Amino acid sequence: MIIAIDGPAASGKGTLGKRLAQHYGYRHLDTGVIYRAVAKMLLDQGFELTDEVRAVAAAMALDPTKFDHPELKSQRIGDAASVVSAFPKVRDALVSFQRQFAADPPGAVLDGRDIGTVICPDADVKIFVVADPQVRARRRTLEARGRGEEADEALVLADIIRRDERDRNRAAAPLKAAADAHILDNSNLDIEGGVRAAIAIVEAVL
Ligand code: C5P
Repeated sequence: MIIAIDGPAASGKGTLGKRLAQHYGYRHLDTGVIYRAVAKMLLDQGFELTDEVRAVAAAMALDPTKFDHPELKSQRIGDAASVVSAFPKVRDALVSFQRQFAADPPGAVLDGRDIGTVICPDADVKIFVVADPQVRARRRTLEARGRGEEADEALVLADIIRRDERDRNRAAAPLKAAADAHILDNSNLDIEGGVRAAIAIVEAVL
């Protein structure tokens, strides 16, 4: 059983993915963390994010089972991730780990941008989460402040819009809903409401 969740930045797909996995007893993979880790490797080594050769080398050297998650959550790393993730060879280097994760029993929930379209086109259930940019910016700002980071909502909104544009318009695995995805509008739902809506989608398909 594979549940694919895709959607733009800060749409709530990570939280929904985690909660769905808990609900069904499946494993959960936040695939954005993988691209964030690649970007962080480059930045830590002092290389340009646009250095494709280094980015591919970082993706190939990455051990996707070992991440320091909290460090990867910042806006800066998210933005950097959307630059390195546009390189097709970076994406290629990370496909087999994601597909293997999805295939292992008893089932898996993967969230990202291209799970339903590229990584798991045969997923049993595909959910594409959307939410108004202002709502997403507000949530991301509160999250960042909760981690003790300074965050200006207007800047967060600009970052989200820029990142979505980049993710939607790239040639390799762009952000888009699979033709058979169920759209979940998370704009006016709290976490529990979103989880209920997602479970309803899964139950209708099972
Ligand atoms: O979901 P998250 O904000 O952590 O993703 C960071 C960036 O990684 C995204 O903006 C996107 O460019 C990239 N990404 C991707 N494909 C995925 C997950 C994330 O290209 N499956």
